[in-house]
Amino acid sequence: MSNTIQSLRGMKDIVGSESELFTYFIENASKIAQKYGFSYIETPLLEETALFKRSVGESSDIVNKEMYQFIDKGQNDVCLRPEGTAGVVRHFVEKKLDRAGGTYKWYYYGPMFRYERPQKGRLREFHQFGCEVFGISNVYEDANIIMLIREILEYFGIGFTLKLNSLGCVLCMPQYKNNLVNHLNSFKSELCEDCNRRVDTNPIRVLDCKNEKCQTLLKDAPKITNSLCSSCNSDFEKLKEILDFNKINYEIDSNLVRGLDYYNKTAFEFVSNEIGAQSAIAGGGRYDRLVEFLGGKSTAGIGFAIGIERLLELIKMPQCNQDVIYMGTLDDSSLNTMIKVANQKRKTTKTLVEYTPRSFGKHFGIAEKLSANIVALIGENELKNGTIYIKNIKTREETNLKLEDF
Ligand code: HAM
Repeated sequence: MSNTIQSLRGMKDIVGSESELFTYFIENASKIAQKYGFSYIETPLLEETALFKRSVGESSDIVNKEMYQFIDKGQNDVCLRPEGTAGVVRHFVEKKLDRAGGTYKWYYYGPMFRYERPQKGRLREFHQFGCEVFGISNVYEDANIIMLIREILEYFGIGFTLKLNSLGCVLCMPQYKNNLVNHLNSFKSELCEDCNRRVDTNPIRVLDCKNEKCQTLLKDAPKITNSLCSSCNSDFEKLKEILDFNKINYEIDSNLVRGLDYYNKTAFEFVSNEIGAQSAIAGGGRYDRLVEFLGGKSTAGIGFAIGIERLLELIKMPQCNQDVIYMGTLDDSSLNTMIKVANQKRKTTKTLVEYTPRSFGKHFGIAEKLSANIVALIGENELKNGTIYIKNIKTREETNLKLEDF
């Protein structure tokens, strides 16, 4: 009987070439977000369950079925975060920034937890890179956020389709919901079990049901984009105009309702056709009422999150021509000098060291396994002469250099 312990279903270690890609992505996406004026925020992984009920919404699948929720030792009802926006908004309200006014832009990355049915591209612990903006209601910011995502995706050479919708506001959404419910009621019993429930709890969620029969039934359903009030309509038209002007292609998808309840007006998803069924690589939108839902003063908000694991499927590590030096000794007496030189060398170049003295041939073998391109060895003779033996693994060139020249 084996007594080894495995990682939990839907959770995995990020290691080797994937971890190289992971840090390469984080470093460069962070730099791009910083250029757009975002600064880093880190919020806790564990929050009060009420935070997600009040933001993501009790009728959403995330809150309903997918939360890692438990009572802690102090009898607090807590939850591993299923997404990053709620924690950032909680911070914004807790620090009374809603009362201070002004604009705030934060980016974050880290693990999120959803108890979903694992499959390719769908994990129970996954990582997001996200950005949140507070205090800007101007629709140019919606376009700015979309352009930021485009810049990140283009930086990594990723092709995408942008799906766009408007979810209206408190003025136009309730009327639209009524129209939709009236329409759905005429064939409610034919809808799937989940949609039957959704008609009463959150009817717009019916629109993005993946069940084929539901989708067929929905063919003639009213479209939110035909029911927008004048403010939502003019913002939606303006957004399309700005995207056109900036040559960003998009598809209007009036069934795009997003899986979280806090959105109003702009909602979008970036999808890739190269990663299978779980094709959404980023999603986001405007959430102008979320600060109020969490007890703050009405403040405009907009943001997005990229699913890092899905993105890494699409990124290739650029060929880097940077040197990797492998250093070793031919005898024990050279070890101190070798370590001292290696520490100097590390200031500019990746330098790996081997502590055990070995023959030339053995050192070359290890260096190759470690993908080093330069081997630098010190033995008794080199120590005496103040030199170091260098071999370029690719060109096979060998030379003895003065230590100070190395
Ligand atoms: P979301 O659409 O739920 O939005 O998630 C954003 C991205 O996270 C998805 O497009 C997908 O790439 C990735 N993702 C979601 N679930 C999984 C999973 N189970 N396994 C792997 N990847 C997954 C949000 O979370 C919002 N907080 C985005 C946002 C920020 N809206 C405004 N600000």
